[in-house]
Amino acid sequence: MKVLVYTFGCQMNKLDSELVLSALRGAGYTVTDRLEEADVVLFNTCSVREHAEERVYSRLGALKRLKQNKPELLIGVLGCMAQKDGAEILRRAPHVDLVCGTRMFPRIADLLDRSAKLRGPVLALEDDVNVSYHRVPRDRPNRFQAYVSVMRGCDNFCSYCVVPYVRGREVSRPFAVIVDEVRRLVDDGCVEVTLLGQNVNSYGKSLDGNADLPGLVGKLQEIEGLHRIRFITSHPKDITRKILEAMRDSSKVCEYLHMPAQSGSDDILGAMRRGYTAARYRELVATAREMVPGVAISSDFIVGFPGETEADFERTVELARDCRFQNSFVFKYSPRRGTHAAQLADDVPREEKRRRNNVLLREQEKISFESHRQYLGRTVEVLVEGPSKKDSNMLVGRLRTNHIVHFPGSQEERGRLREVCVTECTPLTLLGELVETRTDAVRVSAGKPESGGDI
Ligand code: SAH
Ligand code: SF4
Ligand code: F3S
Repeated sequence: MKVLVYTFGCQMNKLDSELVLSALRGAGYTVTDRLEEADVVLFNTCSVREHAEERVYSRLGALKRLKQNKPELLIGVLGCMAQKDGAEILRRAPHVDLVCGTRMFPRIADLLDRSAKLRGPVLALEDDVNVSYHRVPRDRPNRFQAYVSVMRGCDNFCSYCVVPYVRGREVSRPFAVIVDEVRRLVDDGCVEVTLLGQNVNSYGKSLDGNADLPGLVGKLQEIEGLHRIRFITSHPKDITRKILEAMRDSSKVCEYLHMPAQSGSDDILGAMRRGYTAARYRELVATAREMVPGVAISSDFIVGFPGETEADFERTVELARDCRFQNSFVFKYSPRRGTHAAQLADDVPREEKRRRNNVLLREQEKISFESHRQYLGRTVEVLVEGPSKKDSNMLVGRLRTNHIVHFPGSQEERGRLREVCVTECTPLTLLGELVETRTDAVRVSAGKPESGGDI
């Protein structure tokens, strides 16, 4: 049996798709990327905005004809949209055989068996089970990098967000289980781990004892062969000095914070139920930069939240300007049924949302360009990720600060930590050259840039 998985949404979904494929390989499936030869097609879905859901429904619609010609083909919808829409998916797309929620994916092989035997749709939406799986370290697309889930779910209930409803309450994985998983990944050649959680700074809250994120990264720091530790996403209200100290003092913890601000207006932040003001956010950015020299900070923003006036939006642009983010993801507000904000009138017209989106993106581009210029002439440590999509003679690597750099080099460099001298830049990327590390050459400092701030 051949299986094809399409993945939508965040890093957690990417990891879940890996785990699904691993479970299916264990059950005798092989993986394909060609639709015409697939016996099973799975969609691992996202519900965070309407657009993400519409894309899945339209892809499902396109499979209707294929299913008619090949009735034994199994089509499954997994993940957040499955959890949220449940049986509604079968109504909109009756050719779907399996709807598998966010906590049931480790049982995917059994569920597909059941659906094949039943010759009818199977719904697996239990929400009172903990996600647990045994990870096969070999079974991942990339030897040198890995995502590791440290917690699932979210207790924050930001007023616009569907995640707590589809992913459930916050549950942290046991400390020892995570450390063991990372050890086994490193034994298998992994040099960089990214710890994933919808709200990673509250890691440990749901566990007995005093496990927390700083303690966890401290323990991972001891693993020989591991070179880089990242964690996403950081909620501004949960960032503590202890976390920033861990970033400053643990040589493996990368100087990168993804800390979504969402808005620069206190009225909107209040209506979003984010738990901080714009002034508090600015303070946090200043503290992070003071404590962790060279830290790069990135953000998410939502434009066109209900009631957002032009003046509110201006405050958001000001915040972006003041905080000089390395990068910002900007989203147009999308009402999500069942959330608190869905009761408010979605009163910013679509055109205006688009305009605000573009204004903020253009502002961020300027900031990113200025920030990139500060890297010109610097030599930085880079993890070589692979060939550039646009030009196969070029390689792509990532700095500790999560900046991307393109440089010429051979494919053998993939997975290696190298030094690159930055020679050019654009608003989106850095360009550079590999530094030959000859024994007679002067060693240039890699990693943490000398000056404070990311610009
Ligand atoms: N747990 C993370 C990310 C959640 S989803 C966090 O709290 O930061 C990723 C991003 O999607 C959010 O940061 C937010 O900017 C955006 N988002 C969430 N719900 C949205 C909605 N209803 N409309 C538009 N953007 C949304
Ligand atoms: Fe959603 Fe807020 Fe939780 Fe992030 S912290 S997942 S935005 S509810
Ligand atoms: Fe989307 Fe679910 Fe992630 S809603 S952003 S795939 S947690």
